[in-house]
Amino acid sequence: MAQLVTIFGGSGFVGRHVARRMAQAGWRVRVVSRDPNLAGFVRPYGVVGQVEPVFGNIRDDASVAAAMVGADAVVNCTGTFDSSGRNSFDAVHVEGAGRIARLAAAAGVGRLVHVSAIGADADSASAYGRSKAAGEAAVLAHFPGAVILRPSVIFGVDDSFFNRFAGMPGLVLPIVGGGSRFQPVWVDDVAEAAQVALTGDVAAGVYELGGPDVATLRELMEDMLIEIRRRRLVINLPFWLARPVAGLVTFANIMSLGIVPRLLTIDQVEQLRSDNVVSPDARGLADLGITPVAMAAIVPEYLWRFRPSGQYLAIKESARDLRD
Ligand SMILES: NC(=O)c1ccc[n+]([C@@H]2O[C@H](COP(=O)([O-])OP(=O)(O)OC[C@H]3O[C@@H](n4cnc5c(N)ncnc54)[C@H](OP(=O)(O)O)[C@@H]3O)[C@@H](O)[C@H]2O)c1
Repeated sequence: MAQLVTIFGGSGFVGRHVARRMAQAGWRVRVVSRDPNLAGFVRPYGVVGQVEPVFGNIRDDASVAAAMVGADAVVNCTGTFDSSGRNSFDAVHVEGAGRIARLAAAAGVGRLVHVSAIGADADSASAYGRSKAAGEAAVLAHFPGAVILRPSVIFGVDDSFFNRFAGMPGLVLPIVGGGSRFQPVWVDDVAEAAQVALTGDVAAGVYELGGPDVATLRELMEDMLIEIRRRRLVINLPFWLARPVAGLVTFANIMSLGIVPRLLTIDQVEQLRSDNVVSPDARGLADLGITPVAMAAIVPEYLWRFRPSGQYLAIKESARDLRD
């Protein structure tokens, strides 16, 4: 019988890449979602019956325990950007993470991989960073042998970073924290890190995951605009202005019952004050035997659709070269 991995958040951006890798490695994969009917797209990652979406809510002991019955390994890829409500930072990043680790230990699961984030810090100015640190502590308290992965911002065809900024309309691209440095990492490198942590001879503890390029947010946006062949004025909102703007956006989101998207929160403004890069003394992808892929090799493969003529722009550009 093939080994079984349970992936909480396995229908999300990172989780589905972990699910596909584990299926390709021959494992049976259980993808836990609050709405497994919407997670059916994971089934073709394997042969019939190899990858199964199941119901589970990490706020509930019984469904978490049920999702791990018979599992050899568990991955926690859940996450939230809600600071309040039922699925708050505390509920998902801290209590949910601790619950998974506690019940995984009780069930005798062999390996646990927990996806956290660079910036996890008990003294962070952002509630997101503090909740990620508290979640890591809860995981290690229950499951000391866990491997914790802390990625920088993650890119990939279905990311919500480059895709979101590239899809913004208008002549102006407002950003916050334009001088903060990021180390974007490819989603499949993060998934491979999880796979190696599940299957290889890997020391427990924290690994910080970053790609080969470090750039400020402004530089990333300027490169993205070149890639999509759009001219937009990149305006960096100073932090003193970004906070009230984020407050207004949140207020409009609440008053409109969600019709106005919550594009920026005050807590995100706090996160953007700090660099989001791998610490010099941290263990990382190299320690897992992974050579990270550069943005230049991947990002053009999915951002072309934001160009003025989509895929046809390449033909136009080559025709223009011929004429010149
Ligand atoms: N994306 C990035 O750039 C980035 C960077 C650094 C760190 N991370 C971390 O990586 C992890 C995965 O991020 P992502 O980008 O893949 O997020 P995502 O696409 O939003 O996926 C999050 C997943 O969490 C699940 N989830 C949320 N609340 C849940 C609950 N109460 N019970 C069960 N499942 C729940 C959702 O599953 P259902 O809706 O199907 O239930 C969803 O599949 C997160 O911990 C995030 O903080 C991400």
